Amino acid sequence: MSDFPIKKLMDGGALSLEEYESLISGYSDEAAELLAKRALELKKEIYGDAVFVRGLIEISNYCKNDCLYCGIRRSNKNADRYRLSEEQIIECCDEGYKLGFRTFVLQGGEDAYYTDEVLIGIIKTIKGKYPDCAVTLSLGERSYESYKRLFDAGADRYLLRHETADKEHYEKLHPSELSFDNRMRCLKDLRKIGYQVGCGFMVGSPYQTPKTLAKDLKFIEEFKPDMCGIGPFVPHHDTPFAHEKQGSAKLTCYLLSIIRIIYPPVLLPSTTALGTIDPYGREKGILAGANVLMPNLSPVSVRKKYELYDNKICTGEESAQCKNCLEQRMLSIGCKLAVDRGDIKK
Ligand code: 5AD
Ligand code: FES
Repeated sequence: MSDFPIKKLMDGGALSLEEYESLISGYSDEAAELLAKRALELKKEIYGDAVFVRGLIEISNYCKNDCLYCGIRRSNKNADRYRLSEEQIIECCDEGYKLGFRTFVLQGGEDAYYTDEVLIGIIKTIKGKYPDCAVTLSLGERSYESYKRLFDAGADRYLLRHETADKEHYEKLHPSELSFDNRMRCLKDLRKIGYQVGCGFMVGSPYQTPKTLAKDLKFIEEFKPDMCGIGPFVPHHDTPFAHEKQGSAKLTCYLLSIIRIIYPPVLLPSTTALGTIDPYGREKGILAGANVLMPNLSPVSVRKKYELYDNKICTGEESAQCKNCLEQRMLSIGCKLAVDRGDIKK
């Protein structure tokens, strides 16, 4: 491996696709250490030791889509479906607010129950009750008009992972009714409307290569997302990818460092999926350059049902337990949880 791209990256230069590719295929523990060190410096300059927390409310596991990797895909007849009512969602926010959360993320499958009208009601109630909080939506692909109405109702941010920036790879992960072009259209619309926008991808998804990952990095360099969610692919037993290999924690951390260096202000979660494949995954993610945690605020009664992948952690714990657990985990690595909205500083 030439160490040329490493130095160039650390000095703030944008790499070519080929250079990103060689950075990835040339992974070594030493390179990972160097990049993590640089990523931490950059993070510290902008955000200090604070780790931002987002209360994640999994509002529905009904989904009209059939993504091959996902445990709540519509063809999974074994999924025990649920959706939360407005009252239940507000109760989660009430509890989260008391615990110090100032961002609520409403995430769910693409569930037709949540029309614009229903969501506008929920968003307005949350923003009316907690005007000092940010509302983040993560509800999949919708039309420009729908995104606009939800934004006008008060939603601040939208998370929509691009999943892969390579069209052919995208088509191997999704059925033909989902298109790469529409995914990108959504991200561009969200940005244009004024949302803080999050993209992201799985590490180690089937058919992923250093070449497709290089495209992800190029996309991130150019799009400059406010947030970027990356976590390892973890197989789910009731999907076509049940027997595929899970992603690696080391490569996930390496990519977290690289993304921090490519776009230093980005808000980067250390994900639950990373904590699922490695007992110290979330700590390792933060030490690689991530600065966000998204503890689960969903009612305990539904947590096991929002099963995108096998063995997901934090499905038995109360929200307060997760918060305390994360607080301890962060203290153990010299970080503290911030009590504020945690907007991007750019
Ligand atoms: N493993 C890891 N992440 C997954 N997601 C969906 N299924 C899996 C899986 N099996 C991720 C996708 C999606 C996000 C909500 O969860 O990237 O965008
Ligand atoms: Fe949920 Fe540790 S963060 S139990």
